[in-house]
Amino acid sequence: MRLAFLNKILKPSFIVNYRFIVLEGIDGSGKSTLAENIKKHFSKNHFCIKLSEPTELNLWGRELRKILKSKASLNEKLSLKLRRLFKKDRLWDIKNRIKPALQENKIVILDRYYFSTAAYQGENQKEADEIMREYTEDNRILQPDCVLYLKIKPEYTLKRMAKRNEAEEIFEHKEALQKIFERYEYIVSNYANEAKIIVLDAGLNEKELASAALAALNEKR
Ligand code: TYD
Repeated sequence: MRLAFLNKILKPSFIVNYRFIVLEGIDGSGKSTLAENIKKHFSKNHFCIKLSEPTELNLWGRELRKILKSKASLNEKLSLKLRRLFKKDRLWDIKNRIKPALQENKIVILDRYYFSTAAYQGENQKEADEIMREYTEDNRILQPDCVLYLKIKPEYTLKRMAKRNEAEEIFEHKEALQKIFERYEYIVSNYANEAKIIVLDAGLNEKELASAALAALNEKR
């Protein structure tokens, strides 16, 4: 009886391999649904929260949302502005939501982090590298325990998004998404030493993808 009780209270810390989990992928890759499914799974035994960036909880986050929803044409100046706003919103998020939740022993599932900034605001590989360095070398930036990268080509996600009839944001057209996809691929193959990146096939259906993600999260680090 006493042992069963001890097992019950000790078990969570033994079976959780990753506490700060980031989800990445192009628009329509299924991050939000997967985040919800992972949360449901972990909520049975642990405290788990699902967050996303931009936050919309401060001035910078709200400005970001406004720009992303506008049909503003992308150019170098706007990319730099987005980059600056994302950094401020992200530092705010680390301090006000991510760190406090981890300190309370919660599992944090974060829908997009700085890998998105490198893939979306890095106009080319050189800029993507610059952004990756900016975030990996800044000790105010909390590094995730693992990144689940939902790999899927834009032609498939565009079809999904058209079916859902979602309002287009400024990155959601084919050429832009193709470049973003290529930058994600570049980051995944070049930053394996800086972050634990797990590649998942986002062409799977919802259940299969959730199972694949949970199996990967269950493997020892
Ligand atoms: P999000 O709300 O996560 O959209 P979705 O659910 O479609 O993935 O993000 C909104 C947009 O913000 C998305 O097109 C990607 C873009 N974005 C960046 O350009 N840079 C970033 O650093 C982040 C976090 C998002």
